[in-house]
Amino acid sequence: MDHLKDLINQAQSDFSLCKSLSDLDHAKAKFIGKSGAITDAMRQLSSIPKEEKPKVGAEINSIKQAIEALLAVRKDEIQSEAMESQLKSELIDVTLPGTKQSTGSLHPISITLQRVETLFRSIGFDIATGPEIEDDYHNFTALNIPESHPARAMHDTFYIGHHVLRTHTSPVQVRYMKTNQPPLKIISPGRVYRVDSDATHSPMFHQVEGLWIDEKASFANLKGLLQDFLQSFFEDDNLTIRFRPSFFPFTEPSAEIDMSWNGGWLEIGGCGMVHPEVLKQVDINYDKFQGFAFGLGVERLAMLRFGINDLRPFFNNDLRFLKQFIR
Ligand code: PHE
Repeated sequence: MDHLKDLINQAQSDFSLCKSLSDLDHAKAKFIGKSGAITDAMRQLSSIPKEEKPKVGAEINSIKQAIEALLAVRKDEIQSEAMESQLKSELIDVTLPGTKQSTGSLHPISITLQRVETLFRSIGFDIATGPEIEDDYHNFTALNIPESHPARAMHDTFYIGHHVLRTHTSPVQVRYMKTNQPPLKIISPGRVYRVDSDATHSPMFHQVEGLWIDEKASFANLKGLLQDFLQSFFEDDNLTIRFRPSFFPFTEPSAEIDMSWNGGWLEIGGCGMVHPEVLKQVDINYDKFQGFAFGLGVERLAMLRFGINDLRPFFNNDLRFLKQFIR
């Protein structure tokens, strides 16, 4: 039976070489598996003298228990080693600085448009919008610019058959007056397109259209309204405006709007009294109603407010430029 005692040492050294639970399972088979040494020894009990059987049997059992105990100890060790190495590999250094999420900001043109909208809303204007791909009729014809009119060439643009990328926001006047009855007070901000590109012109830019139709909306009201708006927009009570006589087919009389700036004058849009021909197109009784319209250049307003002298950075998507603007 001495060789059985050796089994304990052998098991101990075999088990200690095991690195994983499946290694350990293999190693165990050699001792207490179906054809393991202990099982063998049990089988051989039948061939030894009857009176020695209880003693030898008990001995085998105690060896088996010892091996099982070794097995349990090694199993524990392997499990805690595995746990430890997992913890080590998943270790997080909570003192490292976090990944910074930078906050976005609004585009300077959006900031400007929001400011314009807020100011006009505060005096009762609604916001109306229209399509950027406009048809010939709304962009020109309904605005008293017939097919052969030279003003169409002035608005040289991108034609797609009978559609155009709208050259101004004025077509929204027509769309709005067709679906709404006066009195009406709207502004219409949005993108417009012209074949034009240099430091102060971009083929895509923004306008804000204004329209006020009422029984008594006058040219004097138009001038007062624009001056009030610009004073609020630029936070300057001394700002004045002047009207320069001009021509637009859809207004009569028409004027360019100049604003006082650094001792000089800067043009910031066009305006006039809505032409009776336009009111006729939209079935508004022009004996009873009259009103005015204006169109302001949004980039111009933004450049003046933020002190920028080139229009192009607005649309170059350079974050170093765009990040500088806060409301
Ligand atoms: N639509 C004109 C332009 O883009 C501006 C304008 C609007 C003039 C409304 C008069 C009235 O040049």
